[in-house]
Amino acid sequence: MSTDDLAALLASRIRDVPDYPKPGVVFKDIAPLLDDAVAFAALVDHLAARAKALGATKVVGLEARGFILAAPAAYAAGAGFVPVRKEGKLPGPCFSQAYDLEYGSAVIEVQCDAFVPGERVLVVDDVLATGGTVEASLDLVRRAGAELAGVAVLMELGFLGGRERLQPHLGEAPLEAIIAL
Ligand code: PRP
Ligand code: MG
Repeated sequence: MSTDDLAALLASRIRDVPDYPKPGVVFKDIAPLLDDAVAFAALVDHLAARAKALGATKVVGLEARGFILAAPAAYAAGAGFVPVRKEGKLPGPCFSQAYDLEYGSAVIEVQCDAFVPGERVLVVDDVLATGGTVEASLDLVRRAGAELAGVAVLMELGFLGGRERLQPHLGEAPLEAIIAL
């Protein structure tokens, strides 16, 4: 399937929910994509191919919706999966990073021993909005000693400026959005 065909298929399975979780926000609901076996497999296969092409030995998923995409992609790529979780969910020593969300603020964490020093990681999430979540995760990945191989998101909300925000943190690593809105 071509990249354009993949983007069209996946975009057709994303539902806009106005005024959720608060007035003025249009929520991008990926449930219709996840429950479509063909669309879900196409997305996971694409992410796995990206992980392989970038030489990633770990795929990092960002809680919560990033988990749904990153874990099967890691399996299909023959890579390990590492969760970046919201504060207080991971046992043992963790690196922590605060960040601002499109709505609210939060802290995310990764376990200090999640990576072998220098190993390459692909960071995966569903949506790139303001970029705060991914930016915080890149900080965690670096502090945990890994090298960023790339970032892949299902969709990018370009009008919120996430790509520009991330640019200084990416180095040579590509940021791929399958769907750009
Ligand atoms: C949403 C989305 C991304 C993030 C994007 O997650 O899944 O992770 O916001 O926003 P940003 O680019 O402005 O940081 P959310 O924190 O709402 O929670 P969830 O994934 O646990 O549902
Ligand atoms: Mg999320």
